[in-house]
Amino acid sequence: LIHLLSIEGLPRDVVTNILDTAGTFLSVNDREVKKVPLLRGKSVFNLFFENSTRTRTTFEIAAKRLSADVINLDIAKSSASKGESLLDTIANLSAMHADMFVVRHSESGAPYLIAQHCAPHVHVVNAGDGRHAHPTQGLLDMYTIRHFKKDFTQLSVAIVGDIVHSRVARSDIHALTTLGVPDIRAVGPKTLVPGDLKAMGVRVCHTMEEGIRGADVIIMLRLQNERMSGAMLPSAGEFFKNYGLTDDKLALAKPDAIVMHPGPINRGVEIDSAVADGTHSVILPQVTFGIAVRMAVMSIIAGNEA
Ligand code: CP
Repeated sequence: LIHLLSIEGLPRDVVTNILDTAGTFLSVNDREVKKVPLLRGKSVFNLFFENSTRTRTTFEIAAKRLSADVINLDIAKSSASKGESLLDTIANLSAMHADMFVVRHSESGAPYLIAQHCAPHVHVVNAGDGRHAHPTQGLLDMYTIRHFKKDFTQLSVAIVGDIVHSRVARSDIHALTTLGVPDIRAVGPKTLVPGDLKAMGVRVCHTMEEGIRGADVIIMLRLQNERMSGAMLPSAGEFFKNYGLTDDKLALAKPDAIVMHPGPINRGVEIDSAVADGTHSVILPQVTFGIAVRMAVMSIIAGNEA
């Protein structure tokens, strides 16, 4: 593995190795992330052309825990605003001896373009491209599910909300399928759930009653308003009434169901505060696991495994 651009097509043993490696970076109680010298002397460039709180920060922490030098390019203050192209930016950063680019971009495929044009020793990690893929989110979601549920092959997983615009949903579905989850459900209104999911073996449900009943894992997604316009935008109140996760709706799932969300959450739109802050929620552990999973990805693609 030289780059991580998508989970689609990754063999199961590669996915499992990433999760196992992530586990080695966490302490026994899974709360502390170790510092190791695996990327000492390497330069990791964080290039976030789209906003981020969790992904950018946890990549920075992960690279520092691997002892790398980390450069966060402030895109808004960079010469991209003066018309410098993406590839010219990459060429110039490469001349500064970059070893790894972590790239988030609103255009699907931007990290692929960079991977095609950078030097062979440089590694690229996709930190979310358009509505296409968010592979490290998919992997940290799998780490979280395995942590709480152990065996993928017995699970019912419901992914709820704005699936059509969600790179997280796509990466989760590829990962869940690769790891052998037998029952994957996509739950939401017809306008927000793509029909082609059925061809991927996903059950499409348009009511929460059908979609959540008996689920072991519920992954809530926010409305990605930045990718919608005009008539497509559902009203927040209507959406919450039909698809917002409340304690009443959560009671349809298994009693020990876990509730996940990649963040940012919109309280009162796709999730009620009582659920987001409740005992079933593993939303904040997801964030912590993201550090270890990103350490695993970076150390594996750099060829310096734990
Ligand atoms: N889950 C996620 O990608 O969050 P950020 O947009 O804050 O990075």
